[in-house]
Amino acid sequence: MDYLILIDALHPVPWEVYTSLELKEVSGILLEVQAAEHLGAMLEKARDEGIEIKALSGFRSISYQQGLWERAVARAEAGGMTQPEAVALVSETLAKPRHSEHNCGLAADLCTPAADDTEENFCTTSQGKWLAGNAAEYGFILRYPRMKEHLTGIAYEPWHYRYVGSEAAELIKSSGLCLEEFLHFYSDDFYTARWTDTR
Ligand code: DAL
Ligand code: ZN
Repeated sequence: MDYLILIDALHPVPWEVYTSLELKEVSGILLEVQAAEHLGAMLEKARDEGIEIKALSGFRSISYQQGLWERAVARAEAGGMTQPEAVALVSETLAKPRHSEHNCGLAADLCTPAADDTEENFCTTSQGKWLAGNAAEYGFILRYPRMKEHLTGIAYEPWHYRYVGSEAAELIKSSGLCLEEFLHFYSDDFYTARWTDTR
């Protein structure tokens, strides 16, 4: 598994990745095996420190994502939007089927124990704060930060954590880059282009 795989509006989950995923249950959700093990260790450490974190959503099949997408667009249309308006609005917060990190088992939506849905104010809770400080050590990044919406294509989501491995996660956290920027600036192509530029 390539833990730095980019999944976004332009990059679908490759079929060979989707069909060969090895999933494991952790805290009531399914995640890719290594991501699941690290999420389990992270939630245990938080619990040891008196912070109970609930896992809301992990791996989703492409057909499940399709259902989420169709229902969200239908709801927006029922509210009076045209189809293009509904699609544009829904696209800010929900990935199209096959374009969600949840479709490759590397993303987990996390919340406070009493919540049964994602929380807009999660970053102000002790759970959200603990994750912001500690998730990188376990290989997870806050995938859709504030002020990076123009690069990620997705609105700020304080609950959506993506597994990339701890080395990349620490670099992403300390640099303040989002995954798109990190993949650009730390890629072999970028270094090759820089060091072979003779101007
Ligand atoms: N909410 C995120 C972007 C997803 O649907 O994967
Ligand atoms: Zn999510």
